[in-house]
Amino acid sequence: MTNQRSVVVTGAESGIGAACAAAFGAIGDAVAVFYFNDTAAASLSVAAVEKAGGTARAIQCDVADPASVDRAFSEAERAFGPASVAVNSAGINMAGVKVRDMADTQWQHMIATDLTGAFNVSRRFIRGREKASGPAALIHISSIHAAVVRAGGADYCAAKAGVTNLVETLAIEEARNHIRVNSIRPGMILTPMNERAVEDLAYRHKLEANIPIGRAGRPEEVAAMARWLASDEASYVTGASFTVDGGLSLLLGVGA
Ligand SMILES: NC(=O)c1ccc[n+]([C@@H]2O[C@H](COP(=O)([O-])OP(=O)(O)OC[C@H]3O[C@@H](n4cnc5c(N)ncnc54)[C@H](O)[C@@H]3O)[C@@H](O)[C@H]2O)c1
Repeated sequence: MTNQRSVVVTGAESGIGAACAAAFGAIGDAVAVFYFNDTAAASLSVAAVEKAGGTARAIQCDVADPASVDRAFSEAERAFGPASVAVNSAGINMAGVKVRDMADTQWQHMIATDLTGAFNVSRRFIRGREKASGPAALIHISSIHAAVVRAGGADYCAAKAGVTNLVETLAIEEARNHIRVNSIRPGMILTPMNERAVEDLAYRHKLEANIPIGRAGRPEEVAAMARWLASDEASYVTGASFTVDGGLSLLLGVGA
């Protein structure tokens, strides 16, 4: 008898998703590494999970496409059984374009990925629990921009704010089915999504001066929260959003 859980992580070939996959691997879980299109990166994530002590398999998944999400979950179920944990980390960043200049396609692509993607993953994860028993946890990687807006980020801010209400609604819908649903709101984390800050130290230090803790976050620091939320230690936690930002979002009133 093994305690190995079946865990799905989307966007698991990069950044926060890759760190989550490795964090679950380190406690011996079986991790379905859902990746978008970078098979080499997915292989590296699989190797990291296995090195950490877990089991892993790379599975292609476009979160914006419900048929792709269904196929990927079915493959994960065949390999590891019904997922009892899902971390949805797949996402794209804001366009940096004001609404007045924003193309239809930009808005639609963002909503399809960061909001409808969260819906697609949530629905399929919950359906996969119908024949399963025991507690389950669904975690969405949202953003501080779910609550703190930025000019040029209407697409991203609206999508992430939508994730908040999706999470809260799912929490009350699924509480009696033993599925807890929460989100994490990272601040500035050093991943490929923040490529310029990763590569340009002067630029990074300028941004880090705005963060109370004095530095950008590491993907592992977000993964630690995901792993806790998925654990029995969080057994009474549902419908909540957890900020992991070194205090960044507290400084709203500074400067005016
Ligand atoms: N890095 C940060 O500072 C930061 C801050 C707040 C929130 N976030 C959120 O964290 C999550 C992970 O971001 P990250 O920093 O690891 O970025 P990342 O770019 O390293 O990883 C995101 C992954 O999502 C994948 N992806 C994009 N579209 C997809 C789709 N349609 N289907 C499946 N996968 C898709 C990408 O291929 C990529 O591998 C995102 O939801 C992001 O909005 C990141």
